[in-house]
Amino acid sequence: GKPIIPYEEIGAETLSQLVDAFYARVAAHPKLQPIFPDDLSETARKQKQFLTQYLGGPNIYSAEHGHPRLKARHNPFPITPARAQAWLECMSGAMDEVGLSGTFRETLYNRLVLTAHHMINESDSEE
Ligand code: HEM
Repeated sequence: GKPIIPYEEIGAETLSQLVDAFYARVAAHPKLQPIFPDDLSETARKQKQFLTQYLGGPNIYSAEHGHPRLKARHNPFPITPARAQAWLECMSGAMDEVGLSGTFRETLYNRLVLTAHHMINESDSEE
């Protein structure tokens, strides 16, 4: 059968809307806002590039920034279990906002849970 590439299934337009909806929530989240830059436009641009390749689209993040090394790139920021949960809540809300549903949504969300937990580099008590 036809190979199913998640990036093709979501489409560039919805992916872009998802990332914008996500960072609007991050900017308003008391646990996340303090560790993110005030201007999230460059962060959102990089995240659109990253998620494009994470979902099997063209490797546009690596073409501009090199290997993602996501864990290392997050080391400068205190990522507690509570912040990982907050990140995932922002993403879940953004998914609802842009109308993602069904198996596609579940599969992507479950992948992001694993990636988010992998980013944790500090315990909640140090927050
Ligand atoms: C960058 C926080 C999880 C992908 C960042 C930045 C922060 C951050 C503070 C720097 C923003 C900037 O300076 O522009 C968090 C927190 C997470 C989390 C609190 C909770 C677990 C994730 C996950 C992914 C991800 C799960 C991937 C799906 C990225 C990417 C960048 C980034 C691609 C840009 C890296 C670059 O500078 O090239 N994150 N992040 N993050 N994050 Fe996360």
